Amino acid sequence: MSEDPPLREIVQLACRAPSVHNTQPWRWRVRGPDIDLFADYRRQLVYADPARRDLMVSCGAALHHLQVVVAALGWSARVRRMPDAADERHVARVHLIRSRGLPADPAVLKAVAARRTDRRRPTSWPVPEERLNSLAAIGTSWGAQVLPVTGELSKAKLQRLTRRAATIQGSNPRYIEELDAWTHASQGAGVPREHVPERGAPGSGVGSDSPYARFPAGTLADPVREVEPAEDAMLVVCTSSDDAISRVRAGEAMSAVWLHATQENLSILPLSQAVEVEETRRDLHNEVLGGLAFPQVLLRVGWLPLVRDELPPTPRRPLDEVMTS
Ligand SMILES: Cc1cc2nc3c(=O)[nH]c(=O)nc-3n(C[C@H](O)[C@H](O)[C@H](O)COP(=O)(O)O)c2cc1C
Repeated sequence: MSEDPPLREIVQLACRAPSVHNTQPWRWRVRGPDIDLFADYRRQLVYADPARRDLMVSCGAALHHLQVVVAALGWSARVRRMPDAADERHVARVHLIRSRGLPADPAVLKAVAARRTDRRRPTSWPVPEERLNSLAAIGTSWGAQVLPVTGELSKAKLQRLTRRAATIQGSNPRYIEELDAWTHASQGAGVPREHVPERGAPGSGVGSDSPYARFPAGTLADPVREVEPAEDAMLVVCTSSDDAISRVRAGEAMSAVWLHATQENLSILPLSQAVEVEETRRDLHNEVLGGLAFPQVLLRVGWLPLVRDELPPTPRRPLDEVMTS
């Protein structure tokens, strides 16, 4: 095996991480065995994400992807988060060291390649509590708190807060313009229409609106009928502080949960509207989390139908565009 880590390949795989509206708000610098990750503020969603929370959570997801890819290829990573106290854009410096005797783990690489944001309606199969708890524990081991929300009342509250946030956001024409720009974006970024469910005819019970639909109707067929209620569960990723490093940690935890869920055939859908809007974020903090933790992102967890059309991967920017010297 070569003694040099395949740095470009590692960065390319890290870029498969999820990001808000597929903005990919990151830049990478590769120098010898060090890889630096920078947040790219120019790709901020100014109206959806004024606090740059989603942007930093997205960078955290990329940092987690990087770490597990590095480990899967037989290297270990020493990570310094926020190494430059004067510049929050410098998210991490990752130093690679050859691991001795550790086998490569192709399962993680497969999960990185297979993971998708799938917005189709989950089935009525319940997510067993122990599965939800074990996903939460995996996320929590990455330095944020991941809390299962199981009670119907609490889940209804999350739904209500997300709808409220969507109403507030939807009343701002600039927010709508920004959403449209990223929904049909091309050139390796944005959310393709083929990844957003179409809307069925009213009363048809087919392709009906999810309470969490965020994007204008797309072209993805969503055949689950509403005969039985969807049995999705929820996780809340939260942190004890609300600074930039906490958001990065939250992104790492989200990514850890997602890659594990992918390996178990469970679908994850991040829902960030309720944390993007100040009013609903405060309600989440005070009413759902008892004022004890800061919410960073919600995750819908559910089983999609076993037989379904596979989603193609969403596009990514060319590597040379995200690498800096
Ligand atoms: C911080 C964050 C917030 C997100 N919020 C939402 C959301 O509110 N609704 C949604 O449908 N997708 C959301 N997504 C999913 C992204 O749109 C998705 O990751 C991106 O389009 C790339 O697609 P992929 O995950 O299939 O690679 C979010 C992702 C991240 C990382």
